[in-house]
Amino acid sequence: MVRIASFASTLAGVLLHTATALEVNFDNQGDVFDAASTIAFGLMRSYTGNYTGDVPGNLPDPYFWWEAGAMFGHLVDYWHITGDESYVNQTVQAIVHQSGDLRDLMPKNQTHTEGNDDQGFWAMSVMAAAENNFPNPRRPAAIRPSCPSRL
Ligand SMILES: *[C@@H]1O[C@H](CO)[C@@H](O)[C@H](O)[C@H]1NC(C)=O
Ligand SMILES: *[C@@H]1O[C@H](CO)[C@@H](O)[C@H](O)[C@H]1NC(C)=O
Ligand SMILES: *[C@@H]1O[C@H](CO)[C@@H](O)[C@H](O)[C@H]1NC(C)=O
Repeated sequence: MVRIASFASTLAGVLLHTATALEVNFDNQGDVFDAASTIAFGLMRSYTGNYTGDVPGNLPDPYFWWEAGAMFGHLVDYWHITGDESYVNQTVQAIVHQSGDLRDLMPKNQTHTEGNDDQGFWAMSVMAAAENNFPNPRRPAAIRPSCPSRL
């Protein structure tokens, strides 16, 4: 279940951690993009799902599954706004993996604890990808029939 307080404190932690080092001139697009890039890099420093043996789309403890869903949604927005493709491959891999066998954002590993709100975070990330024409995954023939274009 989503714990808003926990999310708020996590986010505050991330922001405060980087905010101490960030000075942004909001009248300068390059400056804003640089700051966004620093924050995206900071987010991805927590991510280990792209390492051999780890699970794509999961964040390590203490982060919840839904927080990973929110993070990848932010990375979709980040790509859309800045055009930086640095994290596109990891994001595609994460979303496809966590979409689950039935592509309903209910992967078996999460069904004991997953609520609609948790699923909603991932769903909003998928919708953001669809709305912004985020790059589609390259789909192996084996999963093509059950894999909608956005997953
Ligand atoms: C995983 O992604 C991070 C963030 O983009 C990157 O720094 C790291 O090199 C990647 N690791 C592997 C094994 O691809
Ligand atoms: C993403 O994957 C494609 C295909 O493997 C590769 O050509 C591209 O360089 C990768 N992008 C990044 C930012 O690593
Ligand atoms: C579920 O957990 C197993 C064992 O850790 C892992 O191999 C698999 O990739 C996980 N699946 C998802 C969708 O997270």
